[in-house]
Amino acid sequence: MTPKAHDRIPPGLADIVGPSQVLTEPDMVAGYVADFTGRYVGATPAVVRPASTAEVAAVVSWCRQEGVALTLQGGNTGLVGGGVPLGGEVVLSLRRLDALEIDGTAGQATAGAGVTLAALQAGAVGAQWAYGVDFASRDSATVGGSVATNAGGLRVLRYGDTRAQVVGAEAVLGTGAVISHLSGLVKDNTGYNLASLLCGSEGTLGVITAVRLRLVPPAPQRVVALLAFDGLAPAIAAVGALRREVGSLSAAELFFAPGLELVCDVTGLRPPFSDRHAAYLLVEAAGQSDPAADLSDAVGSLAAVADVAMGLDSVRSAELWRYREAHTEAINTLGPPHKLDVTLPASALGAFLDAAPTTVTDVVATARVWLFGHAGDGNIHVNVSGLEPDDERVDEAVLFLAAGLGGSISAEHGIGTAKRRWLHLNRSATEIETFASIKRALDPDGILNPNVLIPPPL
Ligand code: MLT
Ligand code: ZN
Repeated sequence: MTPKAHDRIPPGLADIVGPSQVLTEPDMVAGYVADFTGRYVGATPAVVRPASTAEVAAVVSWCRQEGVALTLQGGNTGLVGGGVPLGGEVVLSLRRLDALEIDGTAGQATAGAGVTLAALQAGAVGAQWAYGVDFASRDSATVGGSVATNAGGLRVLRYGDTRAQVVGAEAVLGTGAVISHLSGLVKDNTGYNLASLLCGSEGTLGVITAVRLRLVPPAPQRVVALLAFDGLAPAIAAVGALRREVGSLSAAELFFAPGLELVCDVTGLRPPFSDRHAAYLLVEAAGQSDPAADLSDAVGSLAAVADVAMGLDSVRSAELWRYREAHTEAINTLGPPHKLDVTLPASALGAFLDAAPTTVTDVVATARVWLFGHAGDGNIHVNVSGLEPDDERVDEAVLFLAAGLGGSISAEHGIGTAKRRWLHLNRSATEIETFASIKRALDPDGILNPNVLIPPPL
């Protein structure tokens, strides 16, 4: 059966979640049908907002029986069109599943899918722990979405990606059946790791309703340095040197002069240095004791640093972080960008960054290219403005460039709808058929996120 999108209010859903939790008015659903960038805009007959795993299971069962497709949504901060109803699906919003329990003894949290990343981080800190994943949309992004997409972010080089934090999950499969494995046992060799399979499955196999997450020891002493370089090569060399020499390194973020200038124009921030420099590296070290001396010593021994601004207290550190974190909002002021999120092997990072701008402008001469990202783990965000939303020629050129250099076409944002036609650049035909077989086993009627991740048959 191919699930259908419905152009009318699906009956039966209000009986499950209550009439007030089925939104149908255009002004009520507007925030659920368009993505943050404005590039992906869908339509839906209804947004359904269950409040428990049992309600999610009833909604999924009802939709399976009626042949209604669902788009799963957390905080709607995704960047690859995977969380909005591009095929007219009913939107299943998980935001009301917001229970959070911190187990201070185990150093773990059990979080409902709708808990925001910021709420999880605050809950962990309140219990003298910390959560290892962080990214700029923390106030809106939800735990369920971050697990479903295996979100990365700013501290992957220190703590790993979201998958590295997940020790258990509860989910409603596309059959309507519930699986729940939330005990949090760190050693638990009892067969398939379904939580790990669901992590990064982008809502194609099941609806994650809760997860058990590993917490990390707090690192309250935090210092930041913004380093300026007059060329790309020394900035890249500095990343390797700092990773080797600063054991408490928790972030290494790269950006360039055009992006910094745009951020300053849009936000009104003063430039960090009196001179313009080609490349900037924002590095952070954090620990239980003050890492300032370690970081300063390592920075002092780097070759070719043109200038340095240190953030030794939380106010100045936050100011320096803002130059990096404000890239996304600044670029969005230029119109819906194309967002390409790639990882390169360390040895190919320089070649990719050198080639990316002309790869774009060779295709569309008037396009503007913004490069920034998480240099510590090889993840570069190629944002391109000045393109029509559905003109994918630049996307294709950049993804071929990354894959040709041994990289991945998705570092942390996922495949979504945006990149599924290029999944073959990183995955063999056998792998893609295995993905499809797993989906058929867990979502036999294909009702969960039908337009996401798995390429349509040719
Ligand atoms: C970031 O790291 O700021 C986002 O993942 C990238 C983006 O907005 O393109
Ligand atoms: Zn990122």
